[in-house]
Amino acid sequence: MIISGKELSAKLKAEMAEQVATFPAKYGRVPHLVVILVGEDPGSVSYVTGKAKACEVTGIRNTTIRKPVSITQGELLSLIEELNKDDSVDGILVQLPLPRHISESKVIETICKEKDVDGFHPLNVAALWQKQPCTVACTPKGIIRLLKAAGVTISGKRAVVVGRSNIVGLPVSKLLLDENATVTIAHSRTADLPSVTRSAEILVVAIGRPKFITEDMVSDGTVVIDVGVNRDPQTGKLCGDVDFAAIEPKASVITPVPGGVGPMTICCLMENTIECFIRKMEHSL
Ligand code: GUN
Repeated sequence: MIISGKELSAKLKAEMAEQVATFPAKYGRVPHLVVILVGEDPGSVSYVTGKAKACEVTGIRNTTIRKPVSITQGELLSLIEELNKDDSVDGILVQLPLPRHISESKVIETICKEKDVDGFHPLNVAALWQKQPCTVACTPKGIIRLLKAAGVTISGKRAVVVGRSNIVGLPVSKLLLDENATVTIAHSRTADLPSVTRSAEILVVAIGRPKFITEDMVSDGTVVIDVGVNRDPQTGKLCGDVDFAAIEPKASVITPVPGGVGPMTICCLMENTIECFIRKMEHSL
């Protein structure tokens, strides 16, 4: 079964649009998300365009601020600080990766926790690992939604996550653990990786290398979640980390690239923006 993140995200966005439509009467305005894009990286440009489109569909107000790669770290941090203070702004997202002269961790910790729609702020990350209320990172949240919508039971399963990034690998491992899966975190340097991935009943791959997971690495009946977004070196087309054509016949459930996890990430970003907005509005009542 191929699970479509595109379909599920369209349904969830339609529900959010209905909810957002009630906000002007209730709170006097709609949520406002500010997205900052530094430079012209084609991957980042396409993500940011997708985010703007999703805002349009859900009725969320969007401002996209584009800055040249020559912007200094100080200038970017000042911009974030201004947006932190701006009461009309509910969510702030700085598209990653950033040019090498700008520290990503400095940027992430400058966005105030209450407007951190990415869930990357150290206080949000700490709260997640301590099971406290927090903003959950969009991709991991979207993956759990997708698994549940596909009717996959997570509890009691052996899950293997390949990748240990702050954006996907670590938080998705924590969410799977909270759903009572037994989780192994592996990576590109794991010794005998194929024997580890073959033990998975749920396999999540977030490495960023085309066709990194080959047919011999997956057991029959596995649930395969492909988080990779790569260019196929042969065809130049978008592809995941999983050799989809070889593995799809073996998997019980698999996500395609494009159209799998990607749309869910953007959908959960809309949800996080709404959550930040409501929290702020209820707080100031
Ligand atoms: N770059 C790739 N994925 C993400 C994401 O979820 N958030 C941000 N800010 N940048 C990204």
